[in-house]
Amino acid sequence: MYYGDLVRLRAIEVDDLDVLMKYVNNLETRRFLGSLLPNSRKSEREWVERASTADPWKDGQFVLAIEDKKTGEFLGTTSFFDISKLHRHAEFGISLWNTERQDKGFGSDATTTMLWVGFHVLGLNNIYLNANADNARALRVYEKVGFKKIGVFREMMFSMGKFQDHIAMDILRSEFLERFPPGSLPGEP
Ligand SMILES: CC(C)(COP(=O)(O)OP(=O)(O)OC[C@H]1O[C@@H](n2cnc3c(N)ncnc32)[C@H](O)[C@@H]1OP(=O)(O)O)[C@@H](O)C(=O)NCCC(=O)NCCS
Repeated sequence: MYYGDLVRLRAIEVDDLDVLMKYVNNLETRRFLGSLLPNSRKSEREWVERASTADPWKDGQFVLAIEDKKTGEFLGTTSFFDISKLHRHAEFGISLWNTERQDKGFGSDATTTMLWVGFHVLGLNNIYLNANADNARALRVYEKVGFKKIGVFREMMFSMGKFQDHIAMDILRSEFLERFPPGSLPGEP
């Protein structure tokens, strides 16, 4: 549906559940994602079912699957949540579940492509996020694609035995449009 240089973003399907369940309880990935409680297949299935039918404006949520553009391999998910129709802002999230597929450029490309969707398809004006201060890879990606650091939530999350700071970042439509003006595409099909 939406192509970056390396990825294709498409609707998430219940068929993605098997791959999700293979990786979703990986501690190395989950320690940066809020909760370390394990996800059961039932709860993950319910999440996928909700995500695959959500209306961004009614449900405030929009989730896409990330695929390797070359091979079609399902790599992870990227989402907007707490979408405000009134203020046209949303919080951004991303996860490449298989750690072997991290650090190969897919996350940066998927983030850029999802920003394009946010600003060019959903018409958002501000996209924001918060990321664990120890998640150097994610922070590098966000900075690289144009998010700006706007502050720190101190000791916001309890994970791996300690309270951890979270870095708040955001990007405005006007900033993104400098790189991707109306009519531009994030990548070739
Ligand atoms: C965060 C995530 C989306 C990044 O995607 P990715 O495909 O792994 O990242 P990329 O390959 O696109 O880019 C990684 C960048 O971080 C850099 N990097 C990697 N490890 C790093 C580290 N420990 N310190 C600093 N920079 C680091 C890489 O060099 C690269 O930057 P460069 O292109 O300037 O060289 C992905 O790793 C992921 O899903 N992680 C697990 C879940 C998660 O943390 N989600 C985000 C929650 S806020």
